[in-house]
Order: sequence, then structure tokens, then C-alpha cells
Amino acid sequence: MFKILSTRQLATGIKQFVIEAPRISHKYQPGQFVILRLYDRGERIPLTIKAVDPQAGTITICVQSVGKTTHLLNLLEPGDSLLDVVGPLGKPSEIKNFGTVAIIAGSVGTAMAIPTTKALKQAGNHVIFIEGARRQDLVVLEDEIRAISDEPYILTDDGSYLEKGLVTHKLLQLLDSGRKIDFVLAVGPIPMMRAVADITKTRGIRTVVSLNSIMVDGTGMCGGCRVLVGNHSQFACVDGPEFEADQVNFDVLVQRNSMYRDAEHKSLDDFLANPERELALVRESCKLRELEEHAAVVPGGPHAK
Ligand code: NAD
Ligand code: FES
Repeated sequence: MFKILSTRQLATGIKQFVIEAPRISHKYQPGQFVILRLYDRGERIPLTIKAVDPQAGTITICVQSVGKTTHLLNLLEPGDSLLDVVGPLGKPSEIKNFGTVAIIAGSVGTAMAIPTTKALKQAGNHVIFIEGARRQDLVVLEDEIRAISDEPYILTDDGSYLEKGLVTHKLLQLLDSGRKIDFVLAVGPIPMMRAVADITKTRGIRTVVSLNSIMVDGTGMCGGCRVLVGNHSQFACVDGPEFEADQVNFDVLVQRNSMYRDAEHKSLDDFLANPERELALVRESCKLRELEEHAAVVPGGPHAK
């Protein structure tokens, strides 16, 4: 069982969790993620790790309410537990001194990009961070972004906070003003990553995107996360999640990510009709598992010899 130690609401529909997971906290490297399951009947979802504290034995994740499982997860509070957290998974980010790097993040993608940003800064890069959110109430982690980057830019699509515009507007503005950017990391919704890739490809700037494909086992066995990169099938869980942007076939990614859209919408509608029922199931399932784990270790329990 993986106990939730604390939570913090970061923005509308986006919540941060600190979770007890000592083994993962020790093995983690920036760019890696976990796959978690809330209860025995639940689906598995991948979530990028935002921070670890090996001394405390904790990991931090940030969750945006998108489908049923993320809505349900965001109802959990300190003291609740998750059934499974598997990881760290995926290849770590490439960290080296590229020169000037631009990290481009869409809303919750900001949280996912923070560990790699910190590592790139430590490696000696000049770090430009461009965060975009649709509205002011979706802007996340502004203070952290300002603390870890040399040039932070925060934009909202509607201009309700700071600069108005999409992240790509700022990127183009910088490039058109003659700024030299040596490397770009883009983490966010697919249309954003595609738009960034289109800009940087024409200008010959190496760009990496973090792909959020559907995942099940996270071990390269189920094929759920298959993506087409450079005309080769790759598995985002073991070959990624970061890939060279100019090699990614975004059409296939969009198509595969929307394969279960109708079922996902139905599942979310059913859940939203009675979220308390499902929340009770999660808590009941975790309580049962806790009792089983306790019985397994006490003298006279089922595994006692
Ligand atoms: P959003 O639609 O609010 O976009 C966030 C920002 O990205 C916008 O403010 C804008 O600056 C930029 N953007 C979006 N579309 C763009 C376009 N066509 N051209 C240029 N810039 C664009 O995104 P959201 O609601 O935060 O996330 C939408 C989906 O993306 C969710 O399903 C979420 O789970 C997923 N997501 C995936 C990742 C990832 O792992 N790559 C990260 C964040 C979000
Ligand atoms: Fe199953 Fe990647 S999640 S192969």
C-alpha cells in the first residue's frame, strides 16, 4: 500500500500528492514516471514524477482531472492509500550542457517538466521556461518556475493573467528576435507539442517531446503505448516517454489516444453521477488490503510458519 501523506490543490482540477514510496524515491531519475492503480477494479494510469525525497521515502505527483481515474484520484486525501504504484519507469531525460534550453510546458505539463528543468540548470544550461495555461486559474507552480529558470515566461490564452497568447507565440517571439536556442523540451497537450515541433523543425533546433500515450503494464509487453517514431514502432513506457519531436508521428498518437474515447466519456459520466460510491469502493478495497498485509506479518497470521 502506498499512503498519501499530503495533498495540495495547485489549480482548478490539478492536485499535488506526496506519497510514501521509498524504493521508487531511491531509484528515480528526472523524466521517469510511475503507473498507479487506485483499487483492485481500477485501471492503470501513468503519471510523471514531479519530485522525490529519498530521505523521507516519498514521491510527488501532480494530477489533472481528465478522465474517471484522475477525477477519483483527486478526491483522495492524506491518510488514504493507493493499491499499486509501480516505478520508476521509462528512460531518464538526457541531461547535459546544451547551452540555452527552452522548456515549453502546457498547464500540468509544467509539473512534469520541473525535475528535468532543475537537472538541466544544474548541468550549466541557461534555462528559458515558457508555461502556458488557458486561464489564470489553470496556471501552476509559478513560484517554482521562477526559482529554477533564468528566464521564466507565463502566458494565458485569454490574457486573464500576465502575457496573453499561446506558448508558441512566445517561442516565435524569442526566435524572431534573434535568440539562439540550442535545445527544446516540450511537455503538454499533443496539439501544443506538435505546434512546437513544427516551429523548431524548420529552424533546425533539436526538440524532445514527452508522450502521454495510453499505458497498461509499463513493461513493453502489452503494446498499449505503441507510438510511431521515425517510422518504427516504439513503446513509450520503455523506449520513452521522451522522443525526438521531428521523428514522432503525431497523427498516429492522436488516433491511438482517442481509440477508447467513447468508453472513457461513458465511464466518466457514470462516475460523475455518483462519485461518492466509487470513492467508498476505493477506501474499502484499501482497508481490506491493509488488513491482509497486517495479517501476513503478525504472528499466527496466514503466512506464519
Ligand atoms: P490546454 O489545452 O489547456 O493547453 C495548455 C497550453 O498549451 C495552452 O495554454 C497553450 O499555451 C498551449 N497549447 C495548447 N494547444 C496549442 C496549440 N495548438 N498550439 C500552440 N500551443 C498550444 O491543455 P491542458 O488542458 O492542460 O491538457 C490537455 C490534455 O493534455 C489533457 O488530456 C492532459 O492530460 C494532456 N497533457 C499531457 C501531457 C504530457 O504528458 N505530454 C502534459 C500535460 C497535459
Ligand atoms: Fe504496455 Fe508500454 S504500457 S507496452
